[in-house]
Amino acid sequence: MTKTPNHQKVVLIGDGAVGSSYAFAMAQQGLAEEFVIVDVIKERTEGDALDLEDVQAFTAPKNIYSGDYSDCSDADLVVITAGAPQKPGETRLQLVNKNLKIIQSIVKPIVDSGFDGIFVVAANPVDVLTYAVWKFSGFDKSRVIGSGTSLDSARLRVALAKKLNVDPRDVNANIMGEHGDSEFAAYSTATAGGVSVVQLAKEAGVSFDDLLQIEDETRHKAYEIINRKGATYYGVATCLMRISRAILRDENAILPVGAALDGEYGLNDIFIGTPAVINGSGLAKVIEVKLDDREKDLMAKSAATLRQVTADGIA
Ligand code: 2OP
Repeated sequence: MTKTPNHQKVVLIGDGAVGSSYAFAMAQQGLAEEFVIVDVIKERTEGDALDLEDVQAFTAPKNIYSGDYSDCSDADLVVITAGAPQKPGETRLQLVNKNLKIIQSIVKPIVDSGFDGIFVVAANPVDVLTYAVWKFSGFDKSRVIGSGTSLDSARLRVALAKKLNVDPRDVNANIMGEHGDSEFAAYSTATAGGVSVVQLAKEAGVSFDDLLQIEDETRHKAYEIINRKGATYYGVATCLMRISRAILRDENAILPVGAALDGEYGLNDIFIGTPAVINGSGLAKVIEVKLDDREKDLMAKSAATLRQVTADGIA
């Protein structure tokens, strides 16, 4: 298919629960004129393409099909969700050896296809694997984005909104650090309606200890979901759609993602959760949040946790 200037092409690598939910979210939003699904289970991708094709009767005409790595050659965006998911009781970091091998086998044929767009990575442990995609691809760091703490921030916003009885979309609060057990809520800069969330909470009789309880519940929410239904997918799929939309529509949206740091927070050579400006060129700028002492300490600890795994896993 020849691409016209307004024609956007997305390739999804990994058609498991997260990948197919993402494809559904993208189809519902009418994003990307061409959407290709790649997975080792070819029959599933063919079935999903046929199933998703039906959605366009309600959205916009699209070309959705099952493909292979060569389809990445002229893609604007490649979204990687492939990899083993967490089992009940397993941490994200425990997946590293299994998924690092899978990522390595994926990135090479994508780069060999001549792909020159933007990578978005969601396989876990996402910060480590985003770093791996950056290393294995040789791409500029602005063109490799992790889902990072986008989902955790969504979870935090929803939990705070419930507590404060406001619309979650009006809560501007971020989880930062690792997408995992060492993440933290950047409460010192969280706002709703231009007012500090800590202040709003106080007025509503919610103490800082209660906020720390919410931070902890957010940190553990994936385990709660996995214990009940074996996997999480709708939340992360929606986050991936949101990041994709910011790229495809060149939005300059400020989103919490997994970003490569270059001195921000005193850190280098690491991908970690922080707000960043996302547009058609990828990650345009890391927004360095002014953290308080508690948060600075947690950011340093989270980075140390990640660095350990990154250093052990990628030579
Ligand atoms: C999540 O947080 C498991 O990383 C996935 O839902």
